[in-house]
Amino acid sequence: MILRMPDTPDYGIDAPKVLRNLFLFGVPLLLLGIYGPRQFHISHVIFLLRPMFFWTGLFLLLEGLLYLFYVKYGKFRHRDQMLSLYAWRGYEQVLDVGCGRGLLLAGAAKRLTSGHASGIDIWSNEDMGGNSEAATRRNLELEGLSERCDLVSAPAQEMPFPDASFDVIMSNLCLHNIYEKQGRLRAVQQIARVLKPGGVIIISDYKHTGEYAAEFERLGLKTEMHWANPLYVFPPLRIVVAKKG
Ligand SMILES: C[S@@+](CC[C@H](N)C(=O)[O-])C[C@H]1O[C@@H](n2cnc3c(N)ncnc32)[C@H](O)[C@@H]1O
Repeated sequence: MILRMPDTPDYGIDAPKVLRNLFLFGVPLLLLGIYGPRQFHISHVIFLLRPMFFWTGLFLLLEGLLYLFYVKYGKFRHRDQMLSLYAWRGYEQVLDVGCGRGLLLAGAAKRLTSGHASGIDIWSNEDMGGNSEAATRRNLELEGLSERCDLVSAPAQEMPFPDASFDVIMSNLCLHNIYEKQGRLRAVQQIARVLKPGGVIIISDYKHTGEYAAEFERLGLKTEMHWANPLYVFPPLRIVVAKKG
């Protein structure tokens, strides 16, 4: 069998099973809502089945479509919004935590001249379809950014970088994948540790952003919160910006 390498960058499908399940349950439920049984009795209680199936199916299907829009188009606009929260000078050392197939990493690297961008990830295929170091390396090659980037295979909770290594640290939809609070806080502490004094952190996620901000404040960083542009993202995302004085 001959495997053909892609010739345009492919930034993958985030959480592919979530997307699949929204369609897998949404479509049949919607059809049952239109063509299925009308009623169901338990003693003299009547359940109106069609409206129940119809609205549940429609809700899941709409969520699936909004999520597909984010994955195929919105995430590039969201990436641009995140990158616009920092005034790039070109010489920065940048880290993308949970870089996946390199969406933010490539976006940041394009803004560098003499700087360098590193991506760290554990390459989970649950969290990102077709996730691997090789796939990300290929995207960077296709973008012409290999010289300016490197990839590190390690969890965010155990970063193998010295203290104060990076001017800018970014992360999109990564930290919520660490299920225990202690693990997420450990990752936040690692991010603060490897940030240089005067450096900036920009983290976007759909939950736990208040927890990240509180931990950064506890560690002495100044934080602010932004909403991601609702036209492009689903689910709604919040962005934590933290600065080390
Ligand atoms: C939904 S994907 C997002 C990828 C990329 N940031 C983007 O926006 O396209 C989440 C990524 O976080 C990575 N990840 C999950 N847990 C991680 C951990 N503990 N340490 C480092 N990366 C992790 C996954 O492997 C995956 O690549």
